[in-house]
Amino acid sequence: MPHLTTRVAIVGAGPAGLLLGWSLHQAGIDFVLVENRDREYVLGRIRAGVLEQGSVETLERLGVGAGVHANGMVHNGIYLQYSGERHHVDFNELLGRTVTIYGQQAVVHDLVEAHDGAGTPVFYDANDVAVHELTGSPSLTFEHDGQHYTVNADFIVGADGFHGVCRQSVPADALQVFEREYPFAWLGILADVAPSTDELIYALHDDGFAMHSMRSHTVSRLYVQVDPADDIASWPDARIWDALHTRLAVPGWSLDEGPITEKSILPMRSFVVSTLQYGSLFLVGDAGHIVPPTGAKGLNSAMSDVTQLSAALVAHYAGADVLLEAYSDTALSRQWKVQQFSQWMTDLLHKRPATDAAGAFDYRSQLGRLDYVTHSTEAKRSLAEQYTGLRLDA
Ligand code: FAD
Ligand code: DHB
Repeated sequence: MPHLTTRVAIVGAGPAGLLLGWSLHQAGIDFVLVENRDREYVLGRIRAGVLEQGSVETLERLGVGAGVHANGMVHNGIYLQYSGERHHVDFNELLGRTVTIYGQQAVVHDLVEAHDGAGTPVFYDANDVAVHELTGSPSLTFEHDGQHYTVNADFIVGADGFHGVCRQSVPADALQVFEREYPFAWLGILADVAPSTDELIYALHDDGFAMHSMRSHTVSRLYVQVDPADDIASWPDARIWDALHTRLAVPGWSLDEGPITEKSILPMRSFVVSTLQYGSLFLVGDAGHIVPPTGAKGLNSAMSDVTQLSAALVAHYAGADVLLEAYSDTALSRQWKVQQFSQWMTDLLHKRPATDAAGAFDYRSQLGRLDYVTHSTEAKRSLAEQYTGLRLDA
């Protein structure tokens, strides 16, 4: 039975765990990273697509920015569309800031490649991952290739996403959960067709939300609002394109279709825990908080947590504990601002179900708010500041 000793044991090789491991490696701090899916599954998972400027800077600072430099698409702003009119909000003009379109899959690919190249201790395809003695001498156990491992560590980091084991290992009376459900979901597709737009379009239509994003000059990513109870089988490709044509229509513009290579329905929720620390366990990313996808904050929040925790661990090993003691409060303070932005943008752009008594009022109120946001410089500046990413001290 192999017995390992390390400084930081990380659970989960999503973007948060891979980035934290890489950041610790760069700082010369030992870690072990354990993931329960196989490497190909991790590399194939399609999710978010927009990087805040700070997230790009993090990748550059850690020496894994070559991919985003070569293939990322820098966008100056977004389009907001309602009542059949499309309005550009120019972040660069308003604030001198931009976002970069670069898929989460590409970020994960670059990090996996960096870990592979450096031969860091990343265990994919592990079973029975469990954490122990979180308020004493913490350890992590798992099974890999028929062997049962025990890892003794100074700290355990739960980077294991919403369904992971780490948050669930915290006693119920030590952690409170705050959450909000939404009466809609997104159906997302990837299509092999050049984007029909230069920058992302977020549209509110009488039939519901639609969005046009992209992954490259030849691959488009599009979303439509659907009922969370819908089965993907009830959305054949032709129905999806019909909905997209209708909801994204403006005079003089057309949407190009291409073969759909991936489609799935994504549930939506807002979720935040009361603390990101329990004893020697720290939570980062989706393990501690979830946002609805409107505004593209999930991946960026995970990267922000990791930047803070990594700096705190480096300071700890240099003899200063102030940052580590403050980590949960600092990260949650930023997270709650991100939560209100994601909630605001989701409520702004989605159509409430017709059965919702307040729905008809809300819809007109949303149109009023969109009219305000697209015409007030102050409102556009606020949107720009939040969409391109809040600084930690904001
Ligand atoms: P994850 O990416 O969830 O990574 C957690 C890792 O831990 C995974 O590799 C998982 O396999 C592993 N793991 C889980 N349990 C265990 C265990 N017991 N032992 C070991 N390993 C374990 N955000 C946006 O901004 N825009 C989007 O369009 C968008 N689309 C999304 C679509 C989907 C289907 C989902 C689920 C999320 C989406 N998000 C989106 C959110 C964004 O992708 C997440 O915020 C981001 O992945 C968070 O990264 P993470 O590393 O914290 O968690
Ligand atoms: C994408 C996802 C988002 O949630 C968003 O707000 C913008 C873009 C995307 O997958 O490209």
